[in-house]
Order: sequence, then C-alpha cells, then structure tokens
Amino acid sequence: MPTTDTRPNALDALSDIAFTINSIQEPKALLAKVLEIAMDALDAERGFVLLSDEEAADGFTVRAQRNFTDEQLDNLVQLSTSVVYEVLREGEPVLIYEALEDDRFGGSESIVLQQIQSIACVPLRLKDRQIGAIYLDSLTKRGRFTRDHLPFIDAVANQAAIALENAQLYQSLREENRQLRTEMQRLHGFDEIIGDSAAMQEVFDIMSRVLDSDVTVLIEGESGTGKELVARAIHYNGHRKDDPFVAIFCGSLSDELLESELFGHKKGAFTGATADKKGLFETADGGTVFLDEVGDLSSRLQTSLLRVLQEGEIKRVGETQVRRVDVRILSATNTPLQELVEEGSFREDLYYRLNTISVTMPPLRHRRSDIPMLANHFLDKYATGRRSHIRGFEPDAIKALKRHRWPGNVRELENTIERAAIMAGGDLIAAEDLRLPDQSSLDPFEPGITLKEAERRIVLRTLDDCDDNISETARVLDVSRRWLHYRLKEWEGTDA
Ligand SMILES: Nc1ncnc2c1ncn2[C@@H]1O[C@H](COP(=O)(O)OP(=O)(O)OP(=O)(O)O)[C@@H](O)[C@H]1O
Ligand SMILES: [Mg+2]
Repeated sequence: MPTTDTRPNALDALSDIAFTINSIQEPKALLAKVLEIAMDALDAERGFVLLSDEEAADGFTVRAQRNFTDEQLDNLVQLSTSVVYEVLREGEPVLIYEALEDDRFGGSESIVLQQIQSIACVPLRLKDRQIGAIYLDSLTKRGRFTRDHLPFIDAVANQAAIALENAQLYQSLREENRQLRTEMQRLHGFDEIIGDSAAMQEVFDIMSRVLDSDVTVLIEGESGTGKELVARAIHYNGHRKDDPFVAIFCGSLSDELLESELFGHKKGAFTGATADKKGLFETADGGTVFLDEVGDLSSRLQTSLLRVLQEGEIKRVGETQVRRVDVRILSATNTPLQELVEEGSFREDLYYRLNTISVTMPPLRHRRSDIPMLANHFLDKYATGRRSHIRGFEPDAIKALKRHRWPGNVRELENTIERAAIMAGGDLIAAEDLRLPDQSSLDPFEPGITLKEAERRIVLRTLDDCDDNISETARVLDVSRRWLHYRLKEWEGTDA
C-alpha cells in the first residue's frame, strides 16, 4: 500500500490518469502527461518512458522524458539497459537504492550513477504483453521509492498502458480514415477516369460543362464502359458533392417494390408496410439521384418520375400529401433510349426531360489507345501485397490486350488484369497470363458481328497461319502490305 503521505496523491494521480485516457488522443502528448503525473505523485525528480520498438537497436526507444539533458539521458539509458531488459523480461517492477553498487549497472563508476539515490522502473503491461517501462529516479533521497509504493506504481502503469493503446488505436483509425477519404476523393474525381483518347476527351469536356449546373444528363453506352463512374464523378465534383449520391437500379425490383423504394410509403399502404418509410428521392434530398437502367422503368413509374422532374414533388405510396424534393437527376442506359421511344415503350416527354445533355461512353474497342494506360492503372490497383513485385507487362501482353475485342469493355479489362495479377509467375505479366481467347481462332461468321470485325478476324487468322509474316499474309489475302500495316496499326494502336 502507498504510505499515508502518498495516498491522496495516489488517488488523485489515478483519477488524473483516467481522465487523461479520455482527453489526450495523441500518443506522444499522452506519454508526457502520464510521466508528469507519476513523477508528481511519487515525488520523483526525473523520469522517462520507453516503449518496445523492434526497429531500434536496443529493442526500445525513449518516448517521453522530464528533467534530463540529452546527454544525461543518453548516458543513463545506456547504463540502465540491463535494468530495463529485466523489467521488460520479467514484467515486474525493479527498485534500486544504490545504483553504484547494483551489479545490473555493471560496476560502472559513472558520475551519472553516483548522483542517483533511488530508482523505480516499472513495466507497462497490456494484457500479458510488456510494451515498455516507466523509469523514475531521485537524486536527493535514498529510498524515495519503497515496496509500499509498488501497488500504486503498478496501477499507474496499467492505466497508462491502456490509455496508450487507446491513443494509438485512435491515431491509426484516424490515419485509416484519412486514407479512405483521400481514396474516396480519388475514386470519385475525374482522376480516376482513365483515358486520353479523343473519344474520352469529349466525355471529359461534356462532364466539366455540366458539373455546376443541375441539368439532367443521360449517359448512354454499352455495359462496362464507365457510365456509373461518370455519374459519380459528375456528382462528387459538382456543387452537390456534400449531399448524398443515391444510385437506383431500375431494372431489378418489381414495379410495386421499386415504387416504394423510390418514393417511400405510408404505414399500412400494403401488406408488409409496417412503418412509414422514406423513399430514395427523399434520402437524396439536396444531392443527386442516379437512375441506372432508366429504360426499364414501367410506364406508371415513368409518369411519377416525370412529376419529380416537372414539379420537384413526390408522393409516398398510400399518401395524398405531396412532398417537395430537391434532387439532380442523372440517368444511364445500355439500350439507346431513343429506340425505346420509337418502339413506344418509353415516354417521349420524359426522354426529353432526362436528356437535356447526353454523353455517350465509347466502347473500349473504339479507344484502343487507352488500353495500356488502363491496364497499368488496374495493375497498380491489383498488384499489391504479395503481388506487388509485378512491375508491368511484356510487350506481347500489351499487344494481346490491344487486339482483343473487349465485349465487356473496361469492366472486362479490369477483371482480366485482376486475374492476370494472380496468375503471373514472373514480375512482368505475360500474354499467357491474360488468358484471352486466341484471336486467330475467332469465328468470322459469328452471328451479330460487324463486317469490320469479320475482316479483322480473317486478317488475324491469316497472319497466324503465315507465322506473322506480313508479306506472305498480304499475298494470301491479296491486299497491299501498306493496307495490312495500316489495319494492324489501327487494331493495336489507334482508336478503331
Ligand atoms: N475510364 C475508366 N477508367 C477507369 N476505370 C473505369 C473506366 N471505365 C470503367 N471503369 C471501371 O470499370 C468498371 C465498370 O464501370 P461502370 O460500372 O461505371 O460501367 P457501366 O457502364 O455502369 O456498366 P453497366 O452498364 O454494366 O452497369 C468499374 O469498376 C469502373 O471503375
Ligand atoms: Mg452501371
């Protein structure tokens, strides 16, 4: 037990430390505070805290100190290494009254030791792990620290260790948070949309024009071309970025469910409506609603959507009350909406409302010059951790990537690179790692392909038959070498 004269101090100190746990979240400041409290409570004149550190030569580093000059501290830390080791090893406090005579100091005559009257060195324990130690000493009073002080010192050390772990956890969470946020920013910024082909420049140009207005934008394009990516980038770079971006997939749910999902419902509006529920339009208030596969909306929902666009109003299912919502609407479709209007399945007036500005995402095969950049971008994303030795692509692999037709567009390319990063044996991705279908075996009579694609398949097949000999291939196909060169260049490099 603490002696009577330290008892009130001890309790104060403990409650101080408990308070510190909740108030200091920076590990360095926390350790300084803990040291100060412990020294005050025990009347120590000097002290330092050290933490185990695998990187350090001694296995620990001093993280806080009081009343030492740098030189004194260096000397003392060196001299007391074996005391510290013992404390860290045994997990028990060590009290020393005669430093000079204590053989843990190796009989050193050091003046540093001559001055010290008493020392207390206590372990910082976390569960059963020793994470460091607090060292306190007195230059004036022999036997300043006694066995009676030990329970108190131990309690301080325990509190300090917990506080420290909290602070470190908090720091790493904050760091992680910061990284996630910049990552998010990166993901939603234009930076994340890769491409500098003419077709993509045009997309970026339109995007930057619509950022700060509320015009509706219809994003058309094949599957996997980046329609959602563009919608997010418009939202997160625009003036509504601090309000929600809500993406709604119009193609999957039943009409009733989708309606309640979009507009919300009143309790009891239908079986299963056990409480009032807000719809996604209300959730997105102030922000952006992204209607994905908007062409799949039923005619009833097309009408409700038109009301949102015209009046800025919604009605929850089962309610007569009208609610105002302020949302920007972006939409996307794989099937050109114009076609749906022509065949009568999409309201023309709604089409014009959604389509104030339209962006058409180019299929990847029309911007093949972007393929190497995209491939490297995805490699950066996936060649991490145990795969981080992968540095790039072999020239043949890039060639194969440029030749492939990419029916699944950028999404297919992304999946291909992710898989290749797993399959690659060396530090460059080889053509085989990509597992792309052999171009020369593609059927030129496959239904649904264009004449251009059929031509490409015939040429590549012949090239393969002729062992990549250009003159021979040109002769077999009865075309000029120039024509052949031009075509090959087109398929591999420029945007065909
Ligand atoms: N230009 C690009 N740069 C980087 N990544 C891209 C690009 N375009 C698409 N991607 C990536 O490809 C994947 C598919 O993109 P996204 O989901 O936006 O396509 P989509 O057009 O909405 O497809 P779907 O019609 O199938 O819904 C995503 O992982 C996206 O990040
Ligand atoms: Mg999509």
